[in-house]
Amino acid sequence: MKEHHERFDKGTLTKLSLLRRYFGAAFNIFLNRFPRITIVDCFAGPGSDREGQPGSPKILLDILQASQEAAFQKRVPVVAVFNEANSKKYQKLKILVESFHLPKSCFQVETRNKPFAELAPGVNSYLKEKGGASFLFIDQFGVKEVTRVIFQKLVEIQACDFMFFVSSFHYRRFIKHSTFQELGLLTSEEVEDIKPQHVHRKMAEGYRRWLPKTSRGSRYYVIPFSIKKNSSIHGLVFCSGDPMGAETFLKAAWKEDPETGEANYDIDNDQIREGQLTLFGGMQKPKKLDMFEQELKDRILNGEIKTLQEAYLFTIETGCLPKHGKQVFTSLFEMGKLADRITQIEYGLLKEKPIPIRLTEKHVKD
Ligand SMILES: C[S@@+](CC[C@H](N)C(=O)[O-])C[C@H]1O[C@@H](n2cnc3c(N)ncnc32)[C@H](O)[C@@H]1O
Repeated sequence: MKEHHERFDKGTLTKLSLLRRYFGAAFNIFLNRFPRITIVDCFAGPGSDREGQPGSPKILLDILQASQEAAFQKRVPVVAVFNEANSKKYQKLKILVESFHLPKSCFQVETRNKPFAELAPGVNSYLKEKGGASFLFIDQFGVKEVTRVIFQKLVEIQACDFMFFVSSFHYRRFIKHSTFQELGLLTSEEVEDIKPQHVHRKMAEGYRRWLPKTSRGSRYYVIPFSIKKNSSIHGLVFCSGDPMGAETFLKAAWKEDPETGEANYDIDNDQIREGQLTLFGGMQKPKKLDMFEQELKDRILNGEIKTLQEAYLFTIETGCLPKHGKQVFTSLFEMGKLADRITQIEYGLLKEKPIPIRLTEKHVKD
């Protein structure tokens, strides 16, 4: 097993930064929406790298500690489980976890020393407790621990968001190896046909195909974030059945990557530099945003998207944020094609009756 004797590289720091941004926001949202919360760090490591830079367990515990007052006031019990299979690393992890003195009235913090595949019996009862929310961080080496069976079981758990690491580069390189063939995520042809910088995006398509053919699977979010580590592409995949979960992750991702919300490198070869003007004086726009705006506009004008709620869901499904969707509404209104100025498209609308998008006469004539 690899040791944590090295310094975290830039790619690892991006992964951990995304975890911090996402979970920092998600935990507060969970506290406001659910009566109990479970967090499982399935591949926790010892807690830090050689130079003391915090790894996932410390990041998660810091966030729990910062919100302990809120958890206490809202009386939301929180279970946090930290697992590490390697005994030496587990001993360090245990010391780290015990150094946090979270109030026992609210927090139940546990450590486990098990291989991931054997973790389920000890945590399933927490994950499946009715009404609760959970988050699992699955920082596997390689790709093979998140099998189709495990993925589908996690998808079926209510209000369970999970995020896992995938060595997409290795999958592409060793696709013909029996372990990768067994996983059955993508075919060799699919992998060979794609550009190396898009391999992790393609992996997410493979996981989407694993979604069960139930109503749950039909509206489920599988969102990739590609990470360059040294010169290879790997990444995180975030999974949630709730648009709010997806939006929370996307907000973190767009903070990490303001151009596409999707990578720590120029994934679409946009070659945009901050503040750079185009030939005609406007700011350069990433291809992804350009395509999103065009598609949302077309769908609104041709009547495929009829309500604000549908526009919100389309925005999130495309990996964009409500503010990007709102821009499309503003420009359509300014072009005289919409009857109403829309000030917000947001998650809260999903609780209301469908709000129709009203097109103008000008739109009909055009
Ligand atoms: C990528 S590292 C995790 C790093 C950690 N999340 C952090 O932020 O520092 C993967 C960890 O999983 C452990 N590990 C490897 N195989 C495992 C398994 N089957 N079950 C649980 N832990 C495992 C390794 O010892 C290693 O510490």
